[in-house]
Amino acid sequence: MPDATRVRLIRKPDEKLTEADFGVEKIRLKTPSDAEVLVRVRYISLDPYLAPMMRSWQGPDPAWEQGIIVGRMVGRVLESRDPAFSRGDWVAGPGHWQSHELCHGSNLRRIDVEEGVPAPAFLGVMGSSGLTAWVGINRVLRVSAGETLTISSAAGIVGGIAGQLAKRLGARVVGIAGGPAKCASVVSELGFDACIDYRNPEFWSELKKAVGPGIDAHYENVGAPILDPVLSLMRERGRIALCGLIAHYLDDETICLKNFRKLLTSGLSIQGFRVFDYQKETDTAHGELRAALKSGDLALRETLTKGLENAPRAYLDMLAGKGMGKYLIELDDDPG
Ligand SMILES: NC(=O)c1ccc[n+]([C@@H]2O[C@H](COP(=O)([O-])OP(=O)(O)OC[C@H]3O[C@@H](n4cnc5c(N)ncnc54)[C@H](OP(=O)(O)O)[C@@H]3O)[C@@H](O)[C@H]2O)c1
Repeated sequence: MPDATRVRLIRKPDEKLTEADFGVEKIRLKTPSDAEVLVRVRYISLDPYLAPMMRSWQGPDPAWEQGIIVGRMVGRVLESRDPAFSRGDWVAGPGHWQSHELCHGSNLRRIDVEEGVPAPAFLGVMGSSGLTAWVGINRVLRVSAGETLTISSAAGIVGGIAGQLAKRLGARVVGIAGGPAKCASVVSELGFDACIDYRNPEFWSELKKAVGPGIDAHYENVGAPILDPVLSLMRERGRIALCGLIAHYLDDETICLKNFRKLLTSGLSIQGFRVFDYQKETDTAHGELRAALKSGDLALRETLTKGLENAPRAYLDMLAGKGMGKYLIELDDDPG
């Protein structure tokens, strides 16, 4: 059995998460028992939702209490004691920022890698990011043609897919992202109608210009610093999908909205949603997204960092917005 390399938390972060909070260790893996599968990990997903668990060492999986990060991975089967999987199969499942995973077969799903739908897509478009974007647009906001939609963190994987899905439905889509270069890419590469830089001191007036008579629907990934100015530009009976609060994942401050009363005065609705409540939509969403990927109708960006040992830096860079699209760690192809 190969030893696995693992990146884990070695101390509870102080105020900020830093590289010094992580360490690398070797762990001895057991030989697979009945129904278990040994996977050589090729890609690890770097997701914002892990940040609060990294801070608190608490999450739905008890491994968090030991500082072990429980995220998602894609890899290839090395050895299988589950008849549903064979050596060489591509699989996706839970991962612990490790080079190898010993998984119960029931926790894995075989993935259908093909031309136009490469393995890392199963952590992005064909994973929960794609499902989240699809649900927000089609089931929460129910976007229709002619509407004006705004999306925060528009250069991220969720925001980028959500905007492209809304464009396909005929909406006018205005993204919000950090920095002029990123905003330019959101328009030129992802096809948004406009993208406004929230770091620009003229953000609010630029956004106001871009949305014209106002916003019909808003897809929120960030939190109060964006939602507050957006609220002031919402039209009567506008809808807001609350998908994420990345601006608030690393502190415990109270979240305040100066424009809260606008919810009442304009008859707005706001709905938080969790992707795991919509698992039954997976086949529909991923079917549509796979077709769009294969036909080249869905533009994607990835920020790929090679080497497991670079995961902490890459994770912090993701939170700081130093890349675009889906943030991933790529491990080498050594079959051992
Ligand atoms: N509801 C659900 O079930 C569900 C499922 C999956 C994901 N989510 C949420 O969906 C959101 C998007 O996820 P994602 O995976 O696509 O990640 P993402 O949007 O790529 O998140 C990273 C980006 O967030 C932006 N950001 C970070 N801090 C910010 C701040 N203080 N203000 C403004 N922007 C900030 C940065 O982009 P800039 O350069 O633009 O600042 C950064 O690159 C996240 O909030 C995530 O937690 C929710």
